[in-house]
Amino acid sequence: MKKLIYSKFGGPEVLQIAEVPIPAIQETSVLIKVKAVSINPLDWKIRNGEMKLMSGSKFPKGIGIDFSGIVEETGTAVTQYKKGDEVFGILDVFKGEALSEYVIAKEKDIVIKPQNVSFEQAAAMAVVGSAALQIFNTLVDLKKGTEVLINGASGGIGMFATQIAKRKGAIVTAVVGDSGIQAVKDWGADFVINYNKEDVLKGNKPYDVVIDLSGKIPFSKAKQIMKHSSAYVHTAPGPKEIISSFFINLFSHKKYKLLMLKPSPGYLAELRGYAEQGIGIVVSKIYPFHSFKKAYTEVPHGKFIGKAVITMDDLKNK
Ligand SMILES: NC(=O)c1ccc[n+]([C@@H]2O[C@H](COP(=O)([O-])OP(=O)(O)OC[C@H]3O[C@@H](n4cnc5c(N)ncnc54)[C@H](OP(=O)(O)O)[C@@H]3O)[C@@H](O)[C@H]2O)c1
Repeated sequence: MKKLIYSKFGGPEVLQIAEVPIPAIQETSVLIKVKAVSINPLDWKIRNGEMKLMSGSKFPKGIGIDFSGIVEETGTAVTQYKKGDEVFGILDVFKGEALSEYVIAKEKDIVIKPQNVSFEQAAAMAVVGSAALQIFNTLVDLKKGTEVLINGASGGIGMFATQIAKRKGAIVTAVVGDSGIQAVKDWGADFVINYNKEDVLKGNKPYDVVIDLSGKIPFSKAKQIMKHSSAYVHTAPGPKEIISSFFINLFSHKKYKLLMLKPSPGYLAELRGYAEQGIGIVVSKIYPFHSFKKAYTEVPHGKFIGKAVITMDDLKNK
């Protein structure tokens, strides 16, 4: 089968298609014919070598964390799935290799794809949707009327965070570029700030929760727009942030929270529920497998709504 791999850290140029055996199935695992794979910032951060501590430096490495596909074969101990089931799911965040014709996943790491979403939409959900759920389930407390600022609201996590926060009764201020304004209004944002026209730090309204998805507002600056008792979420923490959050949280009412994604079957089930209820899942860029270099060159520049995915439809025998 064909699989996207790389044998040294670097830009999109290190990626290449390899011909490898179809992975062997184990008792509790499921072999899935991949239909679509999500493109995530984590893909290029790992590929660039920015996350060596977590990803390790052993090569060759695969790429791609969340995916959708069709069950091809099940291990002898698998009870919930059968050949032909349409599923979506998530692989190891730091060792994912979903950009392959087939992947092996644990039963707990997949769920049945809702019929009302496409394979492309289903592939786009697991990483960013789980991240949004983890923020709201474990890092910050949202109640009716909680004032939330989402900086980078038109991207992957922002798309789910905006809609889930609204469903929980929060008052959402979405910070986006020109191209994201209509999308966040469609997802229910109460207030929209265009980062090209306004400085979010100069606003008068203090927030209960500030979620920075763009890496552009550090905690040190966000504090000026946070209420006395409030929380800030850093979504790309490294060792420095882990240490400073520990000390800040000992002394300050303005809490410094860090997102470190831990996928869970509960999040996948919750996401399937949201999808069935019709939550907006916008996939505005779809690349064929053989355009992987173009995909990983264009997508990091942003300026599109929601998610980008790679489909496997251009591979033979599909
Ligand atoms: N820690 C973890 O476990 C974990 C897990 C998943 C993701 N993450 C991280 O979380 C972050 C967000 O992920 P994502 O998938 O949502 O990324 P994304 O889809 O690339 O979204 C990032 C958003 O930031 C916006 N942005 C760019 N410049 C901005 C500015 N000056 N002000 C406000 N917004 C701006 C972008 O808008 P434009 O399109 O207008 O540029 C885009 O909508 C990434 O750093 C990712 O690596 C971390």
